[in-house]
Amino acid sequence: MQASGGATRRQFLKQAGCLLGGALAGVPGMAAASTGGKHCLADVQYPFYGERQQGILTPQQSYVYFLVMDLAVEELNVMREVFQTWTSYAAQLTQGRNVRPYGENQFVPPIDTGEADDLSAYGLTLTFGISPSFLKKLGLQKRAPKEFQDLPLFARDQLRPEWTGGDICIQSCANDAQVAFHAVRQLVRVARANVTMKWSQAGFISADRASDTPRNLFGFKDGTANANTLKEPEKWLWVSEPDWLRGGTYLIVRKIAMHLETWDRTSYREQVRTFGRDRATGAPMGYGKDEFEPLDLSRKDARGQAVISEDSHSALANATGRQMLRRAYSWSDGIHPRTGQFDSGLLFLCYQKSPQQFIDIQSALGNVDRLNEYITHVGSGLFACFPGVREGEYLGQRLLGA
Ligand code: HEM
Repeated sequence: MQASGGATRRQFLKQAGCLLGGALAGVPGMAAASTGGKHCLADVQYPFYGERQQGILTPQQSYVYFLVMDLAVEELNVMREVFQTWTSYAAQLTQGRNVRPYGENQFVPPIDTGEADDLSAYGLTLTFGISPSFLKKLGLQKRAPKEFQDLPLFARDQLRPEWTGGDICIQSCANDAQVAFHAVRQLVRVARANVTMKWSQAGFISADRASDTPRNLFGFKDGTANANTLKEPEKWLWVSEPDWLRGGTYLIVRKIAMHLETWDRTSYREQVRTFGRDRATGAPMGYGKDEFEPLDLSRKDARGQAVISEDSHSALANATGRQMLRRAYSWSDGIHPRTGQFDSGLLFLCYQKSPQQFIDIQSALGNVDRLNEYITHVGSGLFACFPGVREGEYLGQRLLGA
């Protein structure tokens, strides 16, 4: 054996089971807990094969490792093979297995890098997307839907080229950060000759109880309105044409810096006005008691003023009448070398049926959102996420198939 344990050890851990693991499978926002030394979410597994890619509707795991790559080879048949390999690797990894069993030959590098050898699946999901430039480089631009074009520049964007664009993305989410990273590492490693890593971002969220919406680094519950989006997923989320993307969705990623020190000097009252929601409960500002009460933008106070500030983040986004599925993660990457402040923010990941939903909302937030004073968009990407894969098929088969 090349490495002690490996697949066998992982198998054993799975069989040993975890008292709470099964019971908690699919519990949104569940934070770390332990049962007799083993994390109770260790054994949560999501099937890789199915109608949809996982990692979209999947209850949000605690960690993300998000990677964007460029093509190093612009040949369709080569990339087809890469996606075939990624399909079989992803099917193994998401079930808590190494990509392949270790071999006997000690004179070659081990098949798997090994850092997940003692770890179960931890609810790992791997979600793959491709960009307009991917189609162009592979001569497939005729297959691009007309709405699949680079995003326009928005007011106040400060996008940095090193965090913008790219050809392929992988969103790896798990309830263990090492599991999420390990999976991406294996996928890149096997495709090293054909792709170049462009940028990546690790992120986290946390919530104690299953029913809780996680809070972002400004202390506000973030993701409340997703409940509305999910009432009409066909309208807001799933693409119906072209054929290769039917049942898939568009992912927009924005790396957004959050100026924590400025925010921390802001009064509670102003913080509430910024989001248009109560900070403690997440309920609509001014009248709401419950987080999920509808936002009533027409409500006026005794002086005829809108109860929910019209330039608040929630009011402006809500007034567009558009919705999206947000699946954002916080990030914190040490201290900014120039400002000496926290280098932190939100990896804003959102899924939608058409990129236009994002464009309309971001245009409405534009210059007027009260939140703009505290954030800066520094990275961006648009990706089409394939529909789910049936067993025997591979990711993107309807696009890449011969
Ligand atoms: C760092 C940046 C951002 C932060 C901290 C943030 C935070 C929040 C918070 C706390 C809410 C209210 C609770 C909820 O419904 O989740 C919210 C709502 C929302 N945000 Fe953001 N957000 C950010 C950026 C964005 C961006 C870039 C977009 C899209 C262009 C966006 C779209 C929305 C939408 C659609 C809603 C729901 C509005 C409704 O109630 O219908 N947000 N956001």
